[in-house]
Amino acid sequence: MSLANKYRPKDFSDVVGQDFIVRVLMRALDKKEIPHSLLFAGPRGVGKTTVARIFAKGLNCEVGPTSKPCGKCKFCLEFEKGTGVDVVEIDAASNRGIENIREIQNQLKYLPLSRYKVYIVDEAHMLTNEAFNSLLKVLEEPPSYVVFILATTEPQKIPPTVMSRLQKFSFKPHSVSSIVNRLKYVCSKEGIYATEEALRMIAQRAEGSLRDALVLLEQLSLFSDKNITEKEVSQMLGMIPYEKYEEILEYIVKGDFKTTMDKVNALLEEFSPQEFASGFIGFLEDRLLKKDQNLSFEEKTMLLRMALDMEYHTRDTFSPRSWITYDIARMCSFKKVVNIDEITRRFGVIDKKTNEIVDKTDPMDILRVRKPSLAAYLENCKYSVENGIMKIVSPDGITKLRIEESRDVLKEVFGVDDIEIEVARSQEKKFKDIFEEIKRDWERI
Ligand SMILES: Nc1ncnc2c1ncn2[C@@H]1O[C@H](COP(=O)(O)OP(=O)(O)O)[C@@H](O)[C@H]1O
Ligand SMILES: [Mg+2]
Ligand SMILES: [Zn+2]
Repeated sequence: MSLANKYRPKDFSDVVGQDFIVRVLMRALDKKEIPHSLLFAGPRGVGKTTVARIFAKGLNCEVGPTSKPCGKCKFCLEFEKGTGVDVVEIDAASNRGIENIREIQNQLKYLPLSRYKVYIVDEAHMLTNEAFNSLLKVLEEPPSYVVFILATTEPQKIPPTVMSRLQKFSFKPHSVSSIVNRLKYVCSKEGIYATEEALRMIAQRAEGSLRDALVLLEQLSLFSDKNITEKEVSQMLGMIPYEKYEEILEYIVKGDFKTTMDKVNALLEEFSPQEFASGFIGFLEDRLLKKDQNLSFEEKTMLLRMALDMEYHTRDTFSPRSWITYDIARMCSFKKVVNIDEITRRFGVIDKKTNEIVDKTDPMDILRVRKPSLAAYLENCKYSVENGIMKIVSPDGITKLRIEESRDVLKEVFGVDDIEIEVARSQEKKFKDIFEEIKRDWERI
């Protein structure tokens, strides 16, 4: 038996992920409020058939309907063998026509041996229009002892009239980490040795499908004699090991375009540009989740975005390698992009077409972020910028002093060559007057 079949869960408690769906179905069973027509939508290998079967088992177990079937009664045992008479699985991909649905209609008049007759229609979107119409009639008035579960990877192809009769459950692709955990579990049971990185690479390649991951694990286990490292995965799946990407990332962070390209070109001797680009995404996604001394979260996000661009660019093009060069060059200056992004996020509006800042940013806004106290002093002054010179009229001496201390910052932010500061005459006078007044007061006391 294949690993995928051997490790097909037999109970809800063993199902990986899909928590919400599992909870709703368990509750329906325990409250004995049984939905009669369900749609299980979601990508391949995420547990649609598995959950449908477990639901059927819960419906028909002698102590049921229950979310915890006994596992000992006649019906539970039938289920374990996969031969439940009342559970009918139909592959709509090869039974698409109206005659197949008619056959079901004919069977419906016979009562089940257990409690429910359960029809699991796989790839339901493949049914013909006539078949759907005929199915619709059944779904409109199903006998109380019949449950229909339609499973599909393409729910948008189910006619709306049929859809409206179904209670919809959306199965999610498995995350890399939940696939890795399951693989670890299977490895421990099977006595397979595999490194964490190797399992991550398998999980990346499986793209959310636990079945695909288990099939790959099985092949690799045979291929490597139960001893799976990154090297085997990389050889068999044409995947680039993380350590190579790690090295490339190091040079990207340094901004060393030349060395980065040397390393990349060496990889492109062996792997296709598409393999390189998609593998890099997986690697970066992985890094995104980990604490990192060298890179901030924003920087990693920016790199990931650029890597996604690269992957997109390498598809359907005659010059994938040129795109790689272009995108690697962009990545080598990613830190600048992060900074520009940060500033425009706060102050500017980017023209989506030209990628330029169209909304001219007020330097005062930048100053408020970079040196809030200096901005506060400057706000008390009158100032103007002309011919590369900034003229500031300060209300008092202290303000003038503070501004003079930070000439260089102002020059940079306002983009001027020189700064002239003077204290406002009237203000100066006022200040002196007040000082004189206080002095006189003191003398009087
Ligand atoms: N949610 C899950 N929990 C545990 N195993 C799963 C899950 N989804 C998929 N699998 C594994 O993948 C195999 C195929 O799953 P299946 O339910 O047939 O997927 P689907 O019907 O969605 O294509 C199962 O036998 C099992 O080994
Ligand atoms: Mg299936
Ligand atoms: Zn039972």
